[in-house]
Amino acid sequence: MESRRGVSSSQARSLYWLVAIYIQLLLLVESSQNRNLQQASRKRRLQPYTDNTNTIRHGPAMKSFQVSDGSWVDCVRIEQQIASHHPILKGHIIQISPPSYMNWQQNHIESQSRGLHPQLFAREHGGCPEGCIPVERRDPKQPLLRKFHTLQLHETPHEYATTGLQSSKAPYKGSRAVLSVNKPKLGKPKLDYSISQLWLVAGQPLNTIEVGWQVGGWQGSHSYPQLKTLLSPRLFIYWTADNYNITGCYDLTCSGFVQINNKWVLGGTLSTLNINTKKEQEISVVVAYDSMIPGWWLSISDTTIGYWPSSLYTALNSSATNLLWGGEVYPAGQKATAMGSGAFPDKGYPLAAYQRCVKYADSSKTFFNATLQNKFVSHANCYNSSVQQGGFTDWGSYFFFGGPGCIKHP
Ligand SMILES: *[C@@H]1O[C@H](CO)[C@@H](O)[C@H](O)[C@H]1NC(C)=O
Ligand SMILES: *[C@@H]1O[C@H](CO)[C@@H](O)[C@H](O)[C@H]1NC(C)=O
Ligand SMILES: *[C@@H]1O[C@H](CO)[C@@H](O)[C@H](O)[C@H]1NC(C)=O
Ligand SMILES: *[C@@H]1O[C@H](CO)[C@@H](O)[C@H](O)[C@H]1NC(C)=O
Repeated sequence: MESRRGVSSSQARSLYWLVAIYIQLLLLVESSQNRNLQQASRKRRLQPYTDNTNTIRHGPAMKSFQVSDGSWVDCVRIEQQIASHHPILKGHIIQISPPSYMNWQQNHIESQSRGLHPQLFAREHGGCPEGCIPVERRDPKQPLLRKFHTLQLHETPHEYATTGLQSSKAPYKGSRAVLSVNKPKLGKPKLDYSISQLWLVAGQPLNTIEVGWQVGGWQGSHSYPQLKTLLSPRLFIYWTADNYNITGCYDLTCSGFVQINNKWVLGGTLSTLNINTKKEQEISVVVAYDSMIPGWWLSISDTTIGYWPSSLYTALNSSATNLLWGGEVYPAGQKATAMGSGAFPDKGYPLAAYQRCVKYADSSKTFFNATLQNKFVSHANCYNSSVQQGGFTDWGSYFFFGGPGCIKHP
């Protein structure tokens, strides 16, 4: 008995150790499983924030900053951004990596000669904490601002000086350009606006993606009272799926665009002078289709900002049929509202506004220098554009555009 008990107790001891080791192993496995689970749950899903008012809005600010231009930026949780309210984005897993053919490297090479820099918000406050995105605070009582019937070129209340690509090379999978950032004068800053942008277009009614900078025209919808802010160039994005009727909006004022970047503010002020280099300012813009989302990625100045899911669109769902680049002014016929820098394109560099390194991606998802053709100028006496061949070797395809306003018009 004793010996048996002895054996048994030594067996029990080794059994104890075996069990102990086994439990340790189990715990290890479990903790690694937990870690996997945690990693899986780090895949962030859009999750609409709802309060008792039932309004479509971003979630509450985790942190807020006032920028020196007088505007306010709220940092909201990435899952709770306004896109989460879109019916087609229910439970959408937020994507984090754009396709390689967007080619930041190339972008950087194109941009480094002039020096890109972050917006005022990023320069002054560094950005939002991880897991948040910066949202410009606007007056929620104001109606959504819309662009109107852009590109409907007859009897338009807008002025254009654009250039484009023949649709014969369509379908297009991407568009890019480096834009000079200027500060055109405005007649009535709250009403008039002046823009430099690129358009990706498809379908009827028009589906668009639009990106660039805009001065003026915000009609008091921002949080800041300062006029000087209205007069500064501000980054904007815009989209519509029905010719500017019901769908779409500027920046993050409605649900649609999904932002992933925590430093760039859509609607935020761009400086026209790089403080470090004292050189004039540029931004580079890339929009490229990705079948993984599926949708269109946006990058500004080497930084991934976010994307438009294809399902927002009826026709711009996998490619564009037209690409345009250039300037737009509202309203038409103004004496006091300038486009670009206010100089006519024949003044050239460095006086006139420009877009350079203008490229398109075809269905092979490769970017090519655009052979710019479809020039459209609504009143060349007011604002003009001129496509250049050669001159600056590293500028690729480029054009100057703009003008002082309709001093001699019509
Ligand atoms: C705008 O949408 C409304 C509602 O769907 C429709 O009745 C109207 O015809 C549309 N207007 C235009 C100009 O497409
Ligand atoms: C995608 O766009 C094409 C036209 O460009 C259209 O025929 C098709 O129905 C669209 N698909 C979806 C899912 O909207
Ligand atoms: C507009 O620009 C084009 C191209 O540079 C030029 O030929 C034309 O004369 C300009 N028009 C006016 C009215 O200045
Ligand atoms: C295309 O444009 C880039 C600048 O963006 C330039 O360096 C390159 O030489 C151009 N390539 C061709 C084939 O013109």
